[in-house]
Amino acid sequence: MIDENLIKEVDEAINNISTYDDLNDFRLKYLSKKGSITSLSSKMKELSNEEKREFGYCLNEFKNSVQSRLNAIKEKMDLEYLNKKLESEKIDITLPGTKITKGYIHPLNRVIEEVKEIFISMGYDVKSGPEVENDLYNFELLNIPKSHPARDMQDTFYINEEILLRSQTSPVQIRTMLENKDKTPIRIICPGKVYRRDNDDATHSHQFEQIEGLVVDKNISMADLKGTLEVAMNKLFGDGRKLRFRPSFFPFTEPSVEVDVSCFKCNGKGCNMCKKTGWIEILGAGMVHPNVLRNCGYDPDVYTGFAFGLGVERIAMLKYEINDIRDFYTNDLRFLSQFKYIEKSDDDASK
Ligand code: PHE
Repeated sequence: MIDENLIKEVDEAINNISTYDDLNDFRLKYLSKKGSITSLSSKMKELSNEEKREFGYCLNEFKNSVQSRLNAIKEKMDLEYLNKKLESEKIDITLPGTKITKGYIHPLNRVIEEVKEIFISMGYDVKSGPEVENDLYNFELLNIPKSHPARDMQDTFYINEEILLRSQTSPVQIRTMLENKDKTPIRIICPGKVYRRDNDDATHSHQFEQIEGLVVDKNISMADLKGTLEVAMNKLFGDGRKLRFRPSFFPFTEPSVEVDVSCFKCNGKGCNMCKKTGWIEILGAGMVHPNVLRNCGYDPDVYTGFAFGLGVERIAMLKYEINDIRDFYTNDLRFLSQFKYIEKSDDDASK
């Protein structure tokens, strides 16, 4: 009942299907609304009832057999496609992985973290302040008036007459004392960058890191300063460190001292690290000058305080025996990767 030629043609067309495109073309040509198989049903209306039944039956059979052949082809193609995909995405789990290089804490940050931890454990707060400062906070309120020769101690980058790049972290002392309206006890450290017009060489840098410490309360004495620094330096450089105070001068402290630590490499016997003296100069400190207290609204007859300032680069150079300060800033991985083995808790640099 169905045209033999069409059956033959369809049979051949199905046999020629080898891609998804062929499959689509076939569907379009024979099975879409206007496709040659679909349009066979339009013949129906010309047939008698008897013929209709028979023709309908044949047409259905034909359509079903075409459809099931197409389904089989599609299934086969899907399977082939999947296998190809799996093959191309195959992972060889025996291949060695790509090594991911890890970063390490920079030696300067390591020292800052260590000092912070030491002082936080003694109840200090960590404060910060702006690097672009007013002359007032960086110098004047710290008892260094404009014409004072002490300004020569810190050759400063000025932005204009009143604004500068801070040459020390001491302005954070001033800010903290001024902000503290109720004059409650102060116990802070302030790590941060400072700037000076130095020519860069192995021991100087125009930008470096300082950590300032300040304690203000009633009845604070030099003994508190010494005790505090003794605890801190023993934690930082290992047990058994002795401290030596030498008279010094800073405009914002009176008396002022330079603090030496007994050499942690030779234990005070004398070596290249301590230049055979047994002592290493570590930081500057002193009792807060009455003028500074007064400038910040504290009555120096009621309140006293101590302050200290240390250079982070210097501590890191001593602890890790680094000879050139510039190594900290040049981002040379050969230098930086040497610190991966030093654990933060390893506070005995002589190991
Ligand atoms: N600010 C001083 C300096 O940079 C260090 C210091 C701080 C000294 C606090 C005494 C007290 O040289």
